[in-house]
Amino acid sequence: MENLNTNKRHEIPLIAPSILSADFSNIALDIRRMEEAGADILHCDVMDGIFVPNITFGPKFIKDIRKVTKLPLDVHLMITKPERYIDSFIDAGADYLTIHYEATDILLPTLEKIKNRGIKAGTVISPDTPVDVLKEALVLSDIVLLMSVYPGFGGQKFIEKSLSRLEELVALAKEISPNCLIEIDGGVTLENASAIKKAGADILVAGNTVFTSPNPKQTIAELKSI
Ligand code: DX5
Ligand code: ZN
Repeated sequence: MENLNTNKRHEIPLIAPSILSADFSNIALDIRRMEEAGADILHCDVMDGIFVPNITFGPKFIKDIRKVTKLPLDVHLMITKPERYIDSFIDAGADYLTIHYEATDILLPTLEKIKNRGIKAGTVISPDTPVDVLKEALVLSDIVLLMSVYPGFGGQKFIEKSLSRLEELVALAKEISPNCLIEIDGGVTLENASAIKKAGADILVAGNTVFTSPNPKQTIAELKSI
């Protein structure tokens, strides 16, 4: 896959539509629509009904998606003890595997394990987790995902304090791990994309905003340019 890290600190952020907002009965078609609209990455939300109050899909679904697209798959694991399923999701074709700080007691070894298998490893923090807990994890993370809504559902409202948290994270990453990509997830809209970009995000996840748009191509272009 292309090396996304080459985009680090580019003016233009990468856009990662979240397939949580897709029609799962028409997933190949919806993925094609996102490719044609200029998506850079596909964001895939895995939920177990325990770490978050919702259930989505597992490795089989990722494996099937892998067959219909060349876009990098950014697999966001919202599951308890993600270490149990790392190999399954990597075997299924994940390019990025991100795990929640709050979901595991063995974050650092698990990040190491992901990296040793040759894909990009990432750490996610939920809205109530202080940014500075990431100090150690940043060293081992190719990507850090900052949740700007409580994980579990698409279409929620962006939590405003996420902007200052994003700035804090960008500053911390610059100090500790300058090549680490910073991704924001939840409630990204055409209204707040400019401020998010200014705060330093490299990747914007967008579910509702892109999938409900009558013109996803224009919406993705606008998310990048505004
Ligand atoms: C929420 C998920 C998000 C979600 C984003 O738990 O992690 O990726 O799909 O959807 P929007 O952009 O609609 O908030
Ligand atoms: Zn997500």
